[in-house]
Amino acid sequence: GALLVTLSLLQSAGGSTGVFRASNYSFPDDFIFGVSTAAFQIEGGWNEGGKGESMWDTYLHKHPEYTPDRSNGDVAADSYHKYMDDIKIIQDLGVDHYRMSISWPRILPNGTDNNISHEGVMYYRTLFEELLKVNITPIVTLFHWDMPTVLMDLGGWSNPKVIEYFEDYARIAFNLYGDIIKTWTTLNEPHQHCYQGYGLDYFVPALMSHGVGEYLCTHYTLLAHARVYRMYEKEFRPYQKGKVGITLDAFWAKPKDPNKLEDVHAADAYLQMHLDIYAHPIFSDVGDYPAFVRERVNNMSLEQGFSRSRLPYFTDEEIVALRGSSDFFGLNHYTTFIMSPSSMESGWLVPSLDHDTGVRVEQNLTWPKPGAPWLTVYPPGFRMLLNYVHDNYRMLKDIPILITENGMSDLGQIEDYERVAYFNDYLHQVLLAIHEDGVNVKGYFAWTLMDDFEWSDGYTAKFGLYKVDFDSPERTRTPKLSAKNYANIVRTRRIDF
Ligand code: NOJ
Repeated sequence: GALLVTLSLLQSAGGSTGVFRASNYSFPDDFIFGVSTAAFQIEGGWNEGGKGESMWDTYLHKHPEYTPDRSNGDVAADSYHKYMDDIKIIQDLGVDHYRMSISWPRILPNGTDNNISHEGVMYYRTLFEELLKVNITPIVTLFHWDMPTVLMDLGGWSNPKVIEYFEDYARIAFNLYGDIIKTWTTLNEPHQHCYQGYGLDYFVPALMSHGVGEYLCTHYTLLAHARVYRMYEKEFRPYQKGKVGITLDAFWAKPKDPNKLEDVHAADAYLQMHLDIYAHPIFSDVGDYPAFVRERVNNMSLEQGFSRSRLPYFTDEEIVALRGSSDFFGLNHYTTFIMSPSSMESGWLVPSLDHDTGVRVEQNLTWPKPGAPWLTVYPPGFRMLLNYVHDNYRMLKDIPILITENGMSDLGQIEDYERVAYFNDYLHQVLLAIHEDGVNVKGYFAWTLMDDFEWSDGYTAKFGLYKVDFDSPERTRTPKLSAKNYANIVRTRRIDF
């Protein structure tokens, strides 16, 4: 009633977080709950069952210093062997959906279809069937960053050939599993993958191709996605009747001073350059990069002495293929950053996506920062982001949003009160977005089922609902407090603060 409205207004005004701990709203009957994982982060078995090397295997073996604990994914949570344990703990959470990914080189050791690994194929077939036996629906990502090394050696996602390789791989996956898998996502977080991996060196392949590599990767990723969507539509949907989407990531961008026009513009520029650069070609009725992004990169490129834009162009046919090429909006969200204009908007010697954006990105130091240095807790940012997606991408249809990841890291304690509060507060914002703003959110997947290999943080950042004992060969899984709390939310379909 009125009280709730007042509380939520106060909360969305950006005041303190976690203070108003009451929600009479519940999750709609058709709202789905799940947990997420990714192959490279949990499987291990890096050279078992005929698997080829992924670029993460190769890079981490060569550069042990990349992670603070000099770790790699050779064993990880050992899900390659312990998947029945995983299924058991997913069941204990009471969720009926499990978002996971297929390791491309586990199925295609050479990256291409000239060699399909029978053991790799059977691993996922068994896993899917065992999940379905206990009524857990797998939602499957084709690419969660572990590219076969052979393809990376050819330039990975900056080589236009990748569109065909990815299409071949996807067709094999649809043929193999499409009888029982009905929801697919093509790619996970292309923005993080392209920018951090191709533009910078924060993620593998660490190409540091500043201001060029990230846009090539973006471009061919988008085209590969559209190609696979159209291929499924034509060859598989008529009889498999499934859905295909993509998962994008976005931080919320909060103007440093909401009353300052330049801060508002900075926040807008940030979202356009980081989120809309992917979302606009796929979900808008334009089927192309946002005009702002196009203009910005063009201008910056010319200013830096390039004779043409560092951002490639789509052909008319490509635009037609891209427009509307996703059945749902997969959204990963973790945190909010504070935006103001950068003092060095031009004149950069080394171009990059961030220099093109021209924004100064800061953290609000008064917000909790329980683990990974990039992650501060600001629940209202989630509601703002959901509204942003809803408002900007409803022109083709009222696009259903699936929150494919949300969560936080800490040091790994079992009594993880901060994670309990994080999930309660962020899920509360989801309820507000659904009930008060009419945003079409259809499901939520917590990141992540259990502690895992957290990319550049190795095993030092713990995001799991379950603790994994990485010192024991058994890799024992133990529920944290947050697992019990999440199970309670899933069971009651409401949040008890
Ligand atoms: C997003 C990525 O998809 C996932 O792999 C990663 O572990 C989480 N963010 C947390 O950083």
